[in-house]
Amino acid sequence: MTIIVCDAAYEYTAGVRALDGVSLTIASGEALALVGENGAGKTTLAKLLNGLLRPSQGSVEVEGYDTRARTTAQLSRHVGFVFQNPDDQLFARTVQAEVAFGPRNQRLTEAEVEARVAIALAEVGLADEAERHPYDLAVPERKLVALAAALAMHTPVLVLDEPTIGQDARGVERLGALVDRLHAEGRTLITITHDLDFCLAHFERVVVMAGGKILADGPASEVLSQTDLLAQAQVEPPQVIQLAQALGWGEVPLSVMEFADIYAERKARL
Ligand SMILES: Nc1ncnc2c1ncn2[C@@H]1O[C@H](COP(=O)(O)OP(=O)(O)OP(=O)(O)O)[C@@H](O)[C@H]1O
Ligand SMILES: [Mg+2]
Repeated sequence: MTIIVCDAAYEYTAGVRALDGVSLTIASGEALALVGENGAGKTTLAKLLNGLLRPSQGSVEVEGYDTRARTTAQLSRHVGFVFQNPDDQLFARTVQAEVAFGPRNQRLTEAEVEARVAIALAEVGLADEAERHPYDLAVPERKLVALAAALAMHTPVLVLDEPTIGQDARGVERLGALVDRLHAEGRTLITITHDLDFCLAHFERVVVMAGGKILADGPASEVLSQTDLLAQAQVEPPQVIQLAQALGWGEVPLSVMEFADIYAERKARL
């Protein structure tokens, strides 16, 4: 399952390019983070991937099919999408019904639907909230309901638009563990995030966007240590990387633990 975006552009308003000539290939099983300033075009690009939007120039191919030749319903079986704002996504009267909607549309048996809902809710930590109305939950929890709804679809590709916003430390940790598990299972994960620590800890590839274009695309440790390039996209490098650079290290630590390991090695060498 590969996604090929070829010279794609998108205009919400005629003559104003929210996305401007973007080309990107995402291989099956990749964990890719999309970062960049507000209004860079990240959400627009993500919406092109599951057919919520179709390119006004260029093409987007999912599993060998041009998205213009597929319905949004067809594409939603391949590419799950969790909106930046859960209120754009949720519509059911209970958390249970919300999460069951997708699997039920896949014509699974009721027992399978129930099993998927139970597992998805447990994965996001909302097992006890199944009977609640989604709008009785706080926004961060609503966002987890939307995530559970996407998880229950078992799509090979999952797009998460700003999953960590509003989540507390435990929530971010749970999301990180979930991303790692899905990645290990071979699912393709595309996450838009302003949380560079989350990005560094869980994503191997980083794409930086600004002004509707891609500025950089490469391994997380390489992209996230290019301070000048990140500044162009109003992105601040993760603090462990900034610290390593300030100390004049050539190594790029990907976590606090890695930083500590490099420090210990350097000290031992003295
Ligand atoms: N529905 C819309 N109608 C008109 N313009 C829009 C619409 N949605 C987005 N835009 C514009 O398109 C451009 C790209 O927006 P997009 O939402 O893709 O950016 P983003 O990188 O996701 O930003 P953020 O980090 O703020 O979510 C921005 O200039 C934005 O104002
Ligand atoms: Mg956005």
